[in-house]
Amino acid sequence: MNLKLISVLLTTVLLIGSSCSTPPERSYNDGINIIPQPLSLKQVEEAKFTLSGNTSFCVEGDQATVIANFFATKIATATGYDVTVGNRCSSSEISLKIDTNLDAKAEGYTLNVDSDKVAIVGKDAAGLFYGMQSFMQLLPAEIESPIVVENIVWSAPCVEIADQPRFEYRGIMLDACRHFMPVDFVKKQIDILSLFKINRLHLHLTEDQGWRIEIKKYPKLTEIGSKRIEGEGHEYGGFYTQEDIKEIVAYASERFITIVPEFELPGHELAAIAAYPELSCGNTKTSPRIVWGVEDIVMCPGKEATFQFLEDVIAEMAPLFPGEYFHIGGDECPKSSWEKCPLCKKRIRAEKLFAKDGHSSEERLQSYVIGRVEKMLTKHGKKLIGWDEILEGGLSPEATVMSWRGEDGGIAAANMGHNVIMSPNSGGLYIDHYQGDSNIEPVAIGGYSTLSRVYSYNPVPEKLVETGKSDFVMGVQANLWTEYMYTTELMEYRLYPRAIAVAEIGWTQMDRKDLEDFYRRMNNASVRLDNYDVNYHIPQAEQAGGSFNFIPFTADTVTLAFTTTRPIKMEYSINGGATTQYTEPLIFSESSTLEIYSVLPSGKTSPTRVITIEKQESKPSIEVANPLKGLAAKFSDGRFLNTEELSNATTESTNSVIENWSDLLRRGKLQYSSKEVTYYAAEAEGYINIAEDGIYYFSSDNEDVWIDGEIIVDNSNEVKRFSRNVGAIALKAGMHQFKTVFISNIIGGWPTIWSDASVSMKKEGAEKFTIIEPEMLFYTK
Ligand code: ACM
Ligand code: ZN
Repeated sequence: MNLKLISVLLTTVLLIGSSCSTPPERSYNDGINIIPQPLSLKQVEEAKFTLSGNTSFCVEGDQATVIANFFATKIATATGYDVTVGNRCSSSEISLKIDTNLDAKAEGYTLNVDSDKVAIVGKDAAGLFYGMQSFMQLLPAEIESPIVVENIVWSAPCVEIADQPRFEYRGIMLDACRHFMPVDFVKKQIDILSLFKINRLHLHLTEDQGWRIEIKKYPKLTEIGSKRIEGEGHEYGGFYTQEDIKEIVAYASERFITIVPEFELPGHELAAIAAYPELSCGNTKTSPRIVWGVEDIVMCPGKEATFQFLEDVIAEMAPLFPGEYFHIGGDECPKSSWEKCPLCKKRIRAEKLFAKDGHSSEERLQSYVIGRVEKMLTKHGKKLIGWDEILEGGLSPEATVMSWRGEDGGIAAANMGHNVIMSPNSGGLYIDHYQGDSNIEPVAIGGYSTLSRVYSYNPVPEKLVETGKSDFVMGVQANLWTEYMYTTELMEYRLYPRAIAVAEIGWTQMDRKDLEDFYRRMNNASVRLDNYDVNYHIPQAEQAGGSFNFIPFTADTVTLAFTTTRPIKMEYSINGGATTQYTEPLIFSESSTLEIYSVLPSGKTSPTRVITIEKQESKPSIEVANPLKGLAAKFSDGRFLNTEELSNATTESTNSVIENWSDLLRRGKLQYSSKEVTYYAAEAEGYINIAEDGIYYFSSDNEDVWIDGEIIVDNSNEVKRFSRNVGAIALKAGMHQFKTVFISNIIGGWPTIWSDASVSMKKEGAEKFTIIEPEMLFYTK
């Protein structure tokens, strides 16, 4: 390998290797950049159509007029041209019309661009709107600018496009419950998603952690159920008034997006139960849940009053959402309270819901609930969608299944003749999952779903092709669950660009998909997102084997190699020196600070990683007289958010010896469901016996880890899940001082007693971290 030797002392090498980053030259506007890729596209000639001060819309019909006005405003905003809309056509015109006889599916269109005329024919209004969106994507990305852009030629290549969607349902789910999304944020997402022909926005509105829609008959749902006191002590809340909902629905409708509301039942309803305890089996007095996960207090289907509640809420919600689909959740409903509840048992007997066909009586009770709710929805002219658990206990007659636990539920439902929307977590469509190395990405729920993984998903499983039932796949949806999205910026970071890949898999035929070309078109789409001020994800420079920000070395040199999850240019500088394009692994012979980031063709960059490379002498081991197995631990009662609060505390403490990591948890209740989180801290100290000389990396979800008096892992004030603060140190074989602090608290909805309180390590070069064995730990009296 031709490795470039880089040392801080060899400045000449740095100078030769450096280059300035070039100013953006709008290369992202080259070529044809439509997303999703149309069904057929022919570039007719080299000629182009160019917008000018004379461009006008020429329309036929009221719907076409509305659409023309919508886009005339947008075009005028970016170009500064006074674009008129009329039915008398000029020489430089964009003509829009709807022709229901067009040979295309619903939402289809044709778009013909020649040098002096643009003609768009929609099969329906949606098709016309999408034809215009495609035309907008033929223009420079700056056409989405909210202010006039100067010095740009507003040209579109001459093309003939005939287009229609692969699927009728192309959706994104936003969870407004775990973290609330203000109305303007939702409207912004509608603007953006509509650019890419997404046509359903599923709003998850009710949850254990928060009820987010005003219901006039039950005011406590929002007075009580929309607020929670977080583990850190502050109140969190928010909800949509019915007027807000009307505003969102109307805004979406103008952009051909139908809102699919979700009223989750009979589980995931602790916030409603907090407002109206009688909805639960035990009339449980509670409060909205303050940790993530699945709540075992659920609605009681033994009580007729529960059904009255469901009926009343549906009666208020249904008219607010004119779309035909209504989502009732149905997932993750623990049945433990039903098993004990006399009223639930009575209902099971009365309705003869005895265990049958592999379904337990409680599963059949759940199915009974869904069946009754389906009838309520039918009265309001709505069709029921539920998560795939609604298959358990028997599927309601007309139900549409949203398959999230893989594809099996969807396959089973389609084989039974039910419509299906594919949204499998295993297919990459859970876009709350990580999209890069968890060591450098903001904390997420887990999982791994890169842009290419989402893009490669095919909503029609081979098994349904074999059974001839693939037509029951109505479409595809990606879900943005927001447990670990503490800000709207983080929501956008997880949503884009993956939602844009969902747009393409929902619209584009398989044989028209092309990952490399999608990446190219994404470079253009990114600039459109910039015009909406979207905080989208840009892949960061990653190291194979773990992207750690502290790299000690003891040999003469250390080599760092970087890659990105999709092809993208990387640039770096060392010790604040010249910026250089990354082309090959970097070799360091001295302690250095490396700054590295990736950069899109637009010039937009990822966050900069700052990596400290440190030449170290291995820490000598120490003699320990009479070592005993375990660590000496001090347990302190009290509620501490960090070690600073712990050190200032004057609380009761007790000393004991821990022999296993789980001993650090013994003060706490292991189940949050007991509703009693025990707050305390445990400081465990002693020695670690290192088997051989080497560089060791340490990782833990504890508060911190210390070796030989140095803090190696510092997770202070962070969410203690998937620790991203891996530290490292060069150690000689033998005993070294060791300390870790575990604090039982709840930060960011994660109760640390759900962790295993362990510390892991790996020797440099090893593939994986392993939990430090108790046999390696000692203390002295
Ligand atoms: C789900 O993710 N529980 C539908
Ligand atoms: Zn009950």
